Amino acid sequence: MMKIAVLAGDGIGPEIVAQAVRVLEILKSDGLAIELENALIGGCAVDATGEPYPEATHRLASQADAILLGAVGGPRYDTLPRHQRPERGLLAIRKELNLFANLRPAILYPELANASSLKYDVVAGLDIMIVRELTGDIYFGEPRGMEMRDGQRVGFNTMIYSESEIRRIAHVAFQAAAKRQKKLCSVDKMNVLECTQLWRDVVTEVAREYPQVLLSHMLVDNAAMQLVRNPKQFDVLVTGNMFGDILSDEASMLTGSIGMLPSASLDEKNKGLYEPIHGSAPDIAGKDTANPLATILSVAMMLRYTFNQEEAAQRIEHAIKKVLAQGIRTKDIAEPGGQWVGTRAMGDAVLS
Ligand code: IPM
Ligand code: MG
Repeated sequence: MMKIAVLAGDGIGPEIVAQAVRVLEILKSDGLAIELENALIGGCAVDATGEPYPEATHRLASQADAILLGAVGGPRYDTLPRHQRPERGLLAIRKELNLFANLRPAILYPELANASSLKYDVVAGLDIMIVRELTGDIYFGEPRGMEMRDGQRVGFNTMIYSESEIRRIAHVAFQAAAKRQKKLCSVDKMNVLECTQLWRDVVTEVAREYPQVLLSHMLVDNAAMQLVRNPKQFDVLVTGNMFGDILSDEASMLTGSIGMLPSASLDEKNKGLYEPIHGSAPDIAGKDTANPLATILSVAMMLRYTFNQEEAAQRIEHAIKKVLAQGIRTKDIAEPGGQWVGTRAMGDAVLS
C-alpha cells in the first residue's frame, strides 16, 4: 500500500492539489494501491489549531510513505508571531521528518521556450537539477535571535554544517549526477566563509567514491551569474540550504514559469515530501487560474523516487508534454494575448 498524506495548505494550494489528487485517483483506479489522507499545514492549520504544524499532521506525515503538499502562507498570516507563521510549518515538517535532500529540477519544455526571459538559444534544451541541503545551515543554526547589545538592537543567525550533513547530501548529488550527464558543480562561498570551506573539503573527499562523475566547484556569486549567462553548462548543482533557496528560484525562471517546477524532499530512506516550488500565490487564490502542472509533476517525482513506479511517473510526464504540445496553456505560460484555460480545465486535459 502506498500511503500518501495530502497537505493542501493555503492560497492556491487546495486548487492545485485537487488536480494532482485526480491524477492519483486515476492511477488508483488503474490498479496502483494508493491510500490518501488529508491534514492541515500552514495558515489553515493556524486558523484551526493555533499551530502551523499540528501534532495530528505530524503523526499522519510520519506514518505516510510520501507527502503531497500544495503551498503555505498568505498576507493574513504575515503579522503573526514568528513561531505561528505558516513558513514555520514547512520548516518544521522538513526538519522533523529529516527531509534533508531537496531535488529541484529545472527543465525547459521546448513549447514554452518563449515564456523564458532569456534568449531562446541560451535556454533551449535546458535540463538541470539543483540538489539543495534542506535541514541545516543558517536556516536552523543556533544561536539565533534579536537582542539588545550596547544600547542597540542586533539580529544574528549561525551558518553551520557538520561534515556528516555535508557528506550525506554530497552522496545524493553524486548519485543523481551519475544517472545523468555525470557532471556535478558544488556551490559555496569558501573565499569568505569557513563553514563553506568545510563544505568544499568534504564534497571533494566524497568525490573519490565517484570517479565517473566530474566534480567542479563554484563560488555562489559566480554561480548566480553563470546561471543566466550560460545555464546549459550545468548538469547537477549541489549547495547548502540558503544558497540553494536563492539559486533554485533563479533557475526556475530560466524555464519561463515557476508554475512548472516540481520538487522532492527526501530522507535517507527515500520517504519524501513533494511540492511545487512556487508559493501560495494569494493574489490568484480561489480564481481557478493557477497552473497545477508543477503539483502534478510533483506526483510524478513521488512515484519515481519514493514508490519506484517509473512507468506511472513517465505516464504523467508524457501526458503533460502532450498537453503542452497541443497548445493548452494556463495563464502564466500563455503567449501574450493567447488563449488559456483554468486550473481545473488543465487538470481535465492532463487526465484525458
Ligand atoms: C522554498 C521556500 C521556503 C524556504 C520558505 C517558504 C520557508 O522559499 O521552499 O524555497 O526558504 O525554504
Ligand atoms: Mg525559496
